[in-house]
Amino acid sequence: MKTILITGGAGFIGSNLADSLLKQGNSVIAIDNFDPFYDRAIKERNIEEALKNPNYTLIEADIRSENEMRKIFGTHMPDVVVHLAAKAGVRPSIKNPKEYFDVNVMGTLNLLEIMKELGLFNMVFASSSSVYGNNKKTPFAEADRVDSPISPYAASKVAGELACRTMHSLYGFNITCLRFFTVYGPRQRPDLAIHKFTDLIIKKMPIPVFGAGDSARDYTFVSDIVDGVTAALNNLNGFDIINLGESKTITLSELISSLERHIGTEAIIDRQGKQTGDVDITFADISKAKKMLGYNPAYTKEEGIAEFVSWKKQELKDTIESDSKME
Ligand SMILES: NC(=O)c1ccc[n+]([C@@H]2O[C@H](COP(=O)([O-])OP(=O)(O)OC[C@H]3O[C@@H](n4cnc5c(N)ncnc54)[C@H](O)[C@@H]3O)[C@@H](O)[C@H]2O)c1
Repeated sequence: MKTILITGGAGFIGSNLADSLLKQGNSVIAIDNFDPFYDRAIKERNIEEALKNPNYTLIEADIRSENEMRKIFGTHMPDVVVHLAAKAGVRPSIKNPKEYFDVNVMGTLNLLEIMKELGLFNMVFASSSSVYGNNKKTPFAEADRVDSPISPYAASKVAGELACRTMHSLYGFNITCLRFFTVYGPRQRPDLAIHKFTDLIIKKMPIPVFGAGDSARDYTFVSDIVDGVTAALNNLNGFDIINLGESKTITLSELISSLERHIGTEAIIDRQGKQTGDVDITFADISKAKKMLGYNPAYTKEEGIAEFVSWKKQELKDTIESDSKME
């Protein structure tokens, strides 16, 4: 049994990870500031089950606060920190680059500094496929160059990785930076395409499609990411960077067709121009994850999309029922 501190623990990936770690008998400390990027009520629902578990502690706090972090880390002295808290999302980062750097870079450094002070040296850091920018060589491998990010979000993740690498060199931190490739599944962030499209198609409303529909993504089901993070936190040894994806791509148009099939409704397309900051393709080389972590993604996109759509339909039904009870 380990004590694992998850920053961003009420979010999409963090709450799925917490549930899984608790099920394995670990103790989980979740820190989250309920950032208003999306509705607080969604995050409260994410952690409803975890809160019933005596081995789970939720602390509402900002990773940028030195005093609060010192107090929380000092009280709980976690065996390992899974640092997921971040301002997420490529497009909003273009409007607000300073805040993205403040949370994703300075926030990360704040945690690392406090961990050093307390003699805590084990971290898994959530990085992103967006660090690869518009690299032409695919699939993307960890040794590829990441010095041409095309959004402040991507740049903040490169900088976060560098902060981790520096703290490893200076003080011997054990840190694995995991580059997640677009994650989807139950509790997915509402701003992400699969979630947004599913919601709008079910409601028979137009879906905004940016570009010609030929951009391609490697989507990864959340339970596969949770398995990869769990393997990483149990195998920390020095500094490393590892991709976590499915290692298969589908185009935006194929994604929409798949959603239409699983929802049973045709999408109404609202075609818009290509968005700046969006990369053309993401595609993970996962040979390193397989070798180092025994990672082996279990979900195909068809299986994952089927499971997501049925979760979303149930969520909409539950919301309508709880709204009508309140009337
Ligand atoms: N979802 C994806 O497809 C994806 C892909 C690549 C990388 N990532 C990374 O994985 C991590 C988790 O992503 P997610 O999709 O679960 O996002 P999310 O927004 O659902 O979760 C992040 C959580 O961090 C919290 N947070 C934000 N700023 C904070 C602060 N200053 N202090 C404390 N908590 C704060 C938010 O309230 C939120 O609950 C992020 O670092 C993200 O950049 C996600």
